[in-house]
Amino acid sequence: MKGVEKNGSLDLYVLDGGTGLVSRVRRCFDRIDVNVIPIDDLTIAPAQAASRACVAIISTDAVGCSAPTLEECQRASVMPVIWVGDLEPLGERATHAGLDVLPLAFTGAALRALVAKRATRVSANPADRSGATAFIAHSECMRALLHEVDMFADCDTNVLIRGETGVGKERVAKLLHTKHARRSHGAFVAVNCGAIPDGLFESHFFGHAKGAFTGAVGAHEGYFERADHGTLFLDEIGDLPLHQQVKLLRVLEDGCVTRVGSSVPMSVNLRVLAATNKDLPRLVAAGMFRADLYYRLAVIEMYVPSLQERGSAEKIGIFRSVISSLFGDELAGTLPDVPPWLTEAIAKMRFPGNVRELRNLAERIGVTVKQMRAWDPQRLQALLGHVQRTQAALSLGSQDYQRWDMADRTRVLDALATNGWRRQDTAQYLGISRKVLWEKMRKYHISDTERVRA
Ligand SMILES: Nc1ncnc2c1ncn2[C@@H]1O[C@H](COP(=O)(O)OP(=O)(O)OP(=O)(O)O)[C@@H](O)[C@H]1O
Ligand SMILES: [Mg+2]
Repeated sequence: MKGVEKNGSLDLYVLDGGTGLVSRVRRCFDRIDVNVIPIDDLTIAPAQAASRACVAIISTDAVGCSAPTLEECQRASVMPVIWVGDLEPLGERATHAGLDVLPLAFTGAALRALVAKRATRVSANPADRSGATAFIAHSECMRALLHEVDMFADCDTNVLIRGETGVGKERVAKLLHTKHARRSHGAFVAVNCGAIPDGLFESHFFGHAKGAFTGAVGAHEGYFERADHGTLFLDEIGDLPLHQQVKLLRVLEDGCVTRVGSSVPMSVNLRVLAATNKDLPRLVAAGMFRADLYYRLAVIEMYVPSLQERGSAEKIGIFRSVISSLFGDELAGTLPDVPPWLTEAIAKMRFPGNVRELRNLAERIGVTVKQMRAWDPQRLQALLGHVQRTQAALSLGSQDYQRWDMADRTRVLDALATNGWRRQDTAQYLGISRKVLWEKMRKYHISDTERVRA
């Protein structure tokens, strides 16, 4: 790699194979905050790519112009690749192989747009690129799960990831994404389905054209477009209201989205991963989740075991990994190693909030030990006692919450039926405000279609 001063927010690695591509790219990004870095081969820069947003721009002449060769190079590359070359011999095959190819006579605007799209894809995924903490799997059941992840990562089939809160469903989704040879170069777009305001569903998912509505000062990409050639992760899918489920299903069926305010449909190439801590088949049976959407999402189902199911070794492994990331070489150096009484206490504890709760506790213990410079049994036992008392006070398990939700939903439905589905009367009848009634109806997926059904 030739010497470059690196200040810009984005690195563009250019392999031009003697075609003069480097100077053309420089002209396209004149006065824009990027570093254009000429390279001689594709094996460069894994270290840089791990910490910065970067894209490789490569002349097809430099590697031989056939789709399989380009695809192989793309797989080997640590960053997204934009190919520049004659489209003619590649044609449809390039599209099918998921390659971004610009013709030799590309315009500056086309290159900038593609780079912007690809570069967002890198930075949209900072945890993966910056090496988030390793995925821990000591127990037999977690090793089996990792085996499943390896088996199904490099295909485009939709996956439904089930498991209690905090078990690592999103981590599993990210693993599936990063282990996909092609899609790992695209975005991992995570959407919390329980938190999308009603009126904004379309513009969030489909995007909107400039001027589509008051305040739409510019065009906007929706989640589907952002996840094109990457992965769309639908978190808390069980919380998506029924009327939004229909809209989602339509896109999954025909693979096309149309931005709000536009009439031009765009096809999108997506892999959809969904996660839930709810019992979806039960929601389907209760009419709260569409069966057709369920079958489309759950082509493969993966279950992430609770911490309790994984056993003591896993609890201790996770605890130790947080502690060693906090103390590093100090452990068993200037600070004695974690005392056995503490690991034994951790192994015996239950963690309803699963890995998240255990990690938080480990961090609190770590901070205390840092202050005291010792594994002070009195202080730490007091801390563990406090956590256990809090857990006891919050002892409704997720199953209890689901039972409670079902009962409350039936109560709201009965009240609506008794009051002829008039919101004001129903709210009064239940002794709650109209707003609270509206929130409950949304949460329990109750809409006027229920009235027809009843
Ligand atoms: N196997 C694992 N190894 C290391 N860290 C993990 C593991 N599983 C989960 N974590 C950590 O635990 C926390 C919770 O994980 P994550 O958000 O993936 O759980 P979740 O099942 O999606 O939770 P929720 O149900 O609340 O959405 C995160 O900090 C994550 O990094
Ligand atoms: Mg989650």
